[in-house]
Amino acid sequence: MSVANARPCLETPRPLSAEHTELHPELNRAHVRFIGVSKTYSGARVAALQGIDLAIQHGEVFGIIGRSGAGKSSLIRTINRLEQPTHGRVLIDQVDIGGFDEDRLVELRRRIGMIFQHFNLMSAKTVWQNVELPLKVAGVPKEQRQRKVRELLELVGLQDKHKAYPAQLSGGQKQRVGIARALVHDPQILLCDEATSALDPETTQSILGLLRQINQRLGLTIVLITHEMAVIREVCDRVVVLEQGRIVEQGPVWEVFGNPRHEVSRTLLAPLQQALPQELQSRLQAQPPSADAAAVLRLQFTGTGREEADLAALFSALGGRVRLLHGGIERIQGHGLGQLLLAVSGSSWGVEELRQRAGNWAQQVEVLGYVV
Ligand SMILES: Nc1ncnc2c1ncn2[C@@H]1O[C@H](COP(=O)(O)OP(=O)(O)O)[C@@H](O)[C@H]1O
Ligand SMILES: [Mg+2]
Repeated sequence: MSVANARPCLETPRPLSAEHTELHPELNRAHVRFIGVSKTYSGARVAALQGIDLAIQHGEVFGIIGRSGAGKSSLIRTINRLEQPTHGRVLIDQVDIGGFDEDRLVELRRRIGMIFQHFNLMSAKTVWQNVELPLKVAGVPKEQRQRKVRELLELVGLQDKHKAYPAQLSGGQKQRVGIARALVHDPQILLCDEATSALDPETTQSILGLLRQINQRLGLTIVLITHEMAVIREVCDRVVVLEQGRIVEQGPVWEVFGNPRHEVSRTLLAPLQQALPQELQSRLQAQPPSADAAAVLRLQFTGTGREEADLAALFSALGGRVRLLHGGIERIQGHGLGQLLLAVSGSSWGVEELRQRAGNWAQQVEVLGYVV
C-alpha cells in the first residue's frame, strides 16, 4: 500500500480548464483518468459503462468491485484500449489514448501489464519461454532477454521452475508466471482482472503479497478487479463500486468498508460483516421479558473515531453490569472498524439514554432487543 491512503474521495472531474487545473491539481497528476466514459457494445441494448469519471493516482492500488456484469472488465480494458469507449476519454498521464494508432497502441500496451483469472499461458512453452515470448516479439536482443527473464523469475520466486510446462505448475505458480510475463517491459501500470479468483485462500494470500511487493518495490500503479472483498481489504488503497455501468460509491477502502452507503456495496460487503450469532438472535426479545433483563446494544465502529474506545469509560457511562456478547475490531489502513454487542443490565438509564451514551464512543449504536 502506498500514497493516497489519506486522499479524500475525488470530486467528479469536468473537462480541464485553467481554473479547474488550479482547483484540482490531483486530477492533473492522475496516472489514469476517465472523463465521461461510456461504452455500448454493438448490438447491446443497454450500456456496459455510463458516464464514468474517475482518477487513479500514481503508485495507488485501486480496487474495482461490483456484481457480475456491472462493467468492471469493460472499464479496466479501456485503460489499455482492449475496449474503445463509445463516448468520453481515457487519459494516461494526461495523454488521451483515444486517437492512438497501432504503433502507439503497441507501445501503450508495453507500458501496461495485465494478468487474468485463467493465466492465459502457452501450454506448449516452458515457464522461461512464456516469460521470454513478449520480449522476443518486441525484438529485444537475446542477452538482454535472458537477463530480464532471470530477474523476473527470481522476483516471482520461480527460478527453479524455469524448465517446467504450465501443466506441471500449481495455480499460484501459473499466476506467478503470468505476473512475470506482465512485467517484462517494465510497465508503469498493472491491470489485474480477477487474478486470484481461481486460487485457494492460501495461494491468494501469497499472490497478494507478491502484488504488494511489486507495488512497493517497483512503484507500479495497480488496478485490481475482484469479487473477493477480503482481497480489496488486504491490498487496496481506494475502491470504486460499479453497478449497471455506473459508479455508485468510491473512497478509501477503510471508509467504504466501515460505512458502505450504497445498497450494492452493503450487499457485496455483507460476507465480511459480523452477523449476529444465531444462538443470540434466537434469545433476543423485542420487549424486556422481566425487570432484570439486559438490553442488547450493537456498537458500530466505522473507523472515523479519533482514538480507540476506552472500554472502562464506556462501561462506566452505561452503568450497571455490562457483558461483552460478541464482536471485535479489525484495522484497515490504520482505522479500527468493527462492532461490539453488549448486554447491559441493572443500569439506572433507560434504553434511549444508553443508546445516546454509547454514541460518545461508537459511530452507530442500535438497541437490538433484550435477553434474560
Ligand atoms: N464483447 C462484448 N460484447 C457484448 N456485450 C458485452 C461484451 N463484453 C461485455 N459485455 C456486456 O457488458 C456488460 C458488462 O460486462 P463486463 O464488463 O464483463 O462486466 P463484469 O466484468 O463486471 O462482470 C454485461 O452486460 C456484458 O454482458
Ligand atoms: Mg469481468
